[in-house]
Amino acid sequence: MKQLFLKDYDEVSKVASELFIEEINRDPSLTICFATGSTPEGLYKYLVEANHAGEVSFKEVKSFNLDNYLGMEDDDENNYETYMKENLFDHIDMPRENWVVPNSQPEDIEQYCRDYEERLIKADIDLLLLGVGENGHIAFNEPADKLYAHTHVAHLTDNTITVNSRFFENESEVPTKAITMGMGSILRAKKIVLLITGEKKRATLNKLLKEPFLNPQFPVSFVWGHRDVTLITEKNLVD
Ligand code: GLP
Repeated sequence: MKQLFLKDYDEVSKVASELFIEEINRDPSLTICFATGSTPEGLYKYLVEANHAGEVSFKEVKSFNLDNYLGMEDDDENNYETYMKENLFDHIDMPRENWVVPNSQPEDIEQYCRDYEERLIKADIDLLLLGVGENGHIAFNEPADKLYAHTHVAHLTDNTITVNSRFFENESEVPTKAITMGMGSILRAKKIVLLITGEKKRATLNKLLKEPFLNPQFPVSFVWGHRDVTLITEKNLVD
């Protein structure tokens, strides 16, 4: 795993954006998988700026997203589609038909998961962005004895509900279920960029660095089994 230890959150965001811009300029029609959460907000800000400055174009880029809560209205601020529009899609030159965020209210969820996985396989993700939950989850693959390979319905752990409640009015409003790409869907990507920032992720980062095992109780550890992962993080978080 390539590891970049940088000064602070802003530098992590800037360097990550440079990496994305370089990849897109090398292949303007590549397929990306985006992530949500507070971690990539800085990266998206830099991508928007670069797009406006003419340094990169998203006209031919196609994208998927890792996950979404289930049961959210289209315009709900916690729907990950809203997040992606507000942070990126509404501000760049990417055509609407080129991006997909998992539907928060599909009619037949099991069929939707199968179709999403099929689309991912066909699209063959070139570049995939990952953040991590404090408990080591990636997308919504929560710690468990066995991890799902494919896109599926995930039941959020109490820890994730508590941590994510900061975006809701209270904890009881956080959905208990989500649709998420599975570990196989993620690890099939040709290149993965993992961002870990903020004091709250100190223990998560150090566990990842000090325990190079594939541990299903710590899903992010599976990046150790991928051939092209770049971890970009803050150097002061390393113990
Ligand atoms: C959510 C998302 C994850 C994300 C994680 C961390 O649970 N499903 O994809 O990585 O939050 O979010 P943050 O960057 O806000 O810490």
